[in-house]
Amino acid sequence: ALQGSFASKAHRSSQRPQYHLNPQASYKVAILGAAGGIGQPLALLIKMSPLVSALHLYDIANVKGVAADLSHCNTPSQVLDFTGASELADSLKGVNVVVIPAGVPRKPGMTRDDLFNINANIVKTLVEAVADNCPDAFIHIISNPVNSTVPIAAEVLKQKGVYNPKKLFGVSTLDVVRANTFVAQKKNLKLIDVDVPVVGGHAGITILPLLSKTKPSVSFSDEEVQELTVRIQNAGTEVVEAKAGAGSATLSMAYAAARFVETSLRALDGDDDVYECTFVQSDLTELPFFASRVKLGRNGVEALISSDLQGLTEYEQKALEALKPELKASIEKGIAFAQKQP
Ligand code: NAD
Ligand code: LMR
Repeated sequence: ALQGSFASKAHRSSQRPQYHLNPQASYKVAILGAAGGIGQPLALLIKMSPLVSALHLYDIANVKGVAADLSHCNTPSQVLDFTGASELADSLKGVNVVVIPAGVPRKPGMTRDDLFNINANIVKTLVEAVADNCPDAFIHIISNPVNSTVPIAAEVLKQKGVYNPKKLFGVSTLDVVRANTFVAQKKNLKLIDVDVPVVGGHAGITILPLLSKTKPSVSFSDEEVQELTVRIQNAGTEVVEAKAGAGSATLSMAYAAARFVETSLRALDGDDDVYECTFVQSDLTELPFFASRVKLGRNGVEALISSDLQGLTEYEQKALEALKPELKASIEKGIAFAQKQP
């Protein structure tokens, strides 16, 4: 088993005693969109988690084969497949964490917002089913545009009377994974040690890596800050262009999503030293949703970490102000969509 493989030293505070896996840990995880480019490798990575007892794979097609294939791996979790709307409710019963990568990906030349018209409806329908069948679960939204799909999910859950802002997460882990990788490469650091908080949202300039808060402490020239910030902001587009029409990041995304699932399961299991950056309802800025580091516990978000936003460099402060109008508009677009639906 791969215990701890996603738990880089960086997102744990080093002084605390090491959390020991509860041998009785047994959580159920559902992936909605499990037969897709992200869904398949994500299912594989979650199948390797010793914390998971059941893995529910839901998609509108092609999920039977994925589940049959995966079920032959001799790791503890049971793999169950669910196909189409009539099996959606069953896929969610008793589930602790729901991960949603369902929806269309970008092609070259598109923005994430260009996916809104298709993905907004998909996320709305799936979150309605989550509200009806496992309202207490942690919900991880991967489907783009995350800056709008998370507010849509919040509205849907509110309409159903089950919204718990501590348990709804936009998955921005990939931005942190990328920032850590690019910074380690540029500064010749050991990857396992590097942790860069990334705040704001998950699209273009709304992705704001706080390089001045990099751990371990490291200094960057102005040129390095500019180059690294732009690379991290455009990393999704880098992959979209390299794939040349065949989709967007799937493998690195699956890795990042599996890390966030593992982190969430550790928090559910009582580890009290669990931190991740994620796009959540927030009062750290005047925007209703904002990605920041959060402390996770059994009940979801225990605290938003405000210290990362204090003492920003002039570059970061300007970038923070510059991202707010776009992020605000994307959030409002999501809310308006969900509110105008019957
Ligand atoms: P994909 O097309 O390979 O897979 C999507 C899957 O969703 C398909 O299997 C499809 O059948 C399924 N699907 C479509 N409608 C559905 C529905 N109503 N119910 C259940 N499943 C449904 O796409 P992908 O590469 O896996 O990307 C999926 C989404 O993730 C895209 O929106 C992409 O932009 C987003 N994404 C987000 C991040 C992030 O950092 N948050 C990173 C990469 C990709
Ligand atoms: C990413 O950051 O890779 C994803 O949001 C997919 C995309 O469209 O870039």
